[in-house]
Amino acid sequence: MISRRSLLAGGAATLLPLPTLSLAETGDGWLDLKAGPAARKLYTPDGPDSPLWTYNGQVPGPEIRLKRGERVKVRFTNELTEPTSIHWHGIRIDNAMDGVAGLTQAAVAPGESFTYDFVVPDAGTYWYHAHNKSWNQVGRGLYGPLIVDEEQPAFDRAHDLTLVVDDWRLVQPGILDTESFGALMDWAHGGRLGNWITVNGVAQPKLRLKRGETYRLRLINAANARVFEIDPNRFGAKVLAYDGQPLREPATLPYAPALLGPAQRMDLLVKAEEDFVIEELSTTRPFPLVGFAATAGETASNAAPAVLPLAPNAIAEPDLAGARRVKVVMQGGAMGGPVDITYNGKRLEGEDFPRTRQSWAFNGIANLAKEPLFAAEPGETIVIETVNLTSWVHAMHVHGHHFRVLSRSGSEIDEDQPWRDTFLIGPEQTTEIAFVADNRGKWLYHCHMLEHAAAGMTTWFDVS
Ligand code: C2O
Ligand code: CU
Repeated sequence: MISRRSLLAGGAATLLPLPTLSLAETGDGWLDLKAGPAARKLYTPDGPDSPLWTYNGQVPGPEIRLKRGERVKVRFTNELTEPTSIHWHGIRIDNAMDGVAGLTQAAVAPGESFTYDFVVPDAGTYWYHAHNKSWNQVGRGLYGPLIVDEEQPAFDRAHDLTLVVDDWRLVQPGILDTESFGALMDWAHGGRLGNWITVNGVAQPKLRLKRGETYRLRLINAANARVFEIDPNRFGAKVLAYDGQPLREPATLPYAPALLGPAQRMDLLVKAEEDFVIEELSTTRPFPLVGFAATAGETASNAAPAVLPLAPNAIAEPDLAGARRVKVVMQGGAMGGPVDITYNGKRLEGEDFPRTRQSWAFNGIANLAKEPLFAAEPGETIVIETVNLTSWVHAMHVHGHHFRVLSRSGSEIDEDQPWRDTFLIGPEQTTEIAFVADNRGKWLYHCHMLEHAAAGMTTWFDVS
């Protein structure tokens, strides 16, 4: 294990920039993505290969880089042995392109292709990932960053760094544990937690920054279930954006650490005055994620100054006075006590769990009911009050819309109520979110701890 000091001293893997796929490079409006198996090293550069599933042979998949308002067509081919689909997480997308197998499209069969054709309305940090058996497919590496630049990019590329963090479960001697995918223990507890963390597919990489220069670090949590605890104050960073959407001003966190739940993003603004390490603080001993060495040197003469604050995206403000209110009570899981759960119209008994794998419920119902949780008129403001009666933390994600967190019992909310697409909710907590249902179609509301989503914590709503 590399310590904080040895990571900074050198020896650790150097992070190569992620290969990008951008329309500026292809020139014809099309990008190509292929899902398929690939052997990659997760542990050490000279360690063993792990059998991963990848986009274009890489983990993470290539960074898709678009401009706000741009239209892209992705020619997707499935070279896996099981069906899959791609979800464009956080993009306020055309519903038919949302990529939810079984709800917005049929899964793409092995050997088949599908064209995703959509416009990206918002600048910011997003990601894409498999959305069929995500607990298995994302857990094996099917994800990548999707970055949408402002019309005039706020940072030049040398000062704009994407860091995709993932938590893997390795077995000796450092190979992905594929046997335990689907373990019922994970499904009913905290999801599949790992024992090894990579940033952009590399364990404890090190990056060189130019001393005294200002950088945008885009953190993306691609883990199945781990909530990372990160303290930007330790290295003097401010928060620029959450879940793709900029704050009104870069903000110093009034509390520490910041929680980065599964699927959440956090963009940081940091001036490289000295060397620093981003650490995961939830473990008993801090785990260094990535080290930065601030080195003296000439700046490229074409380096552009950052354009701050970031220009906001045009998201409709909720009208709370006329809102439709919806309540979601989360129940189930280990240590939750006995609960009545209905699945496929049938009340489950305890002994049904190994067969149905359903352990959690929203309002007593496990998983994708035939009826939506609610139906909304286009343009209607929705307030969802989510009550967590389980003994676990969850990362609740709304598809196709960003929301504001209105209230959260037992803890402060950020004063300017930033837009989010995923919120964390602890045991015994109640959280109210509000958004304008202005995107027509069928949208999921689910826990992004991917085992929880599969084990019952998935529902949907209809905007039509
Ligand atoms: Cu990234 Cu349905 O989620
Ligand atoms: Cu959950």
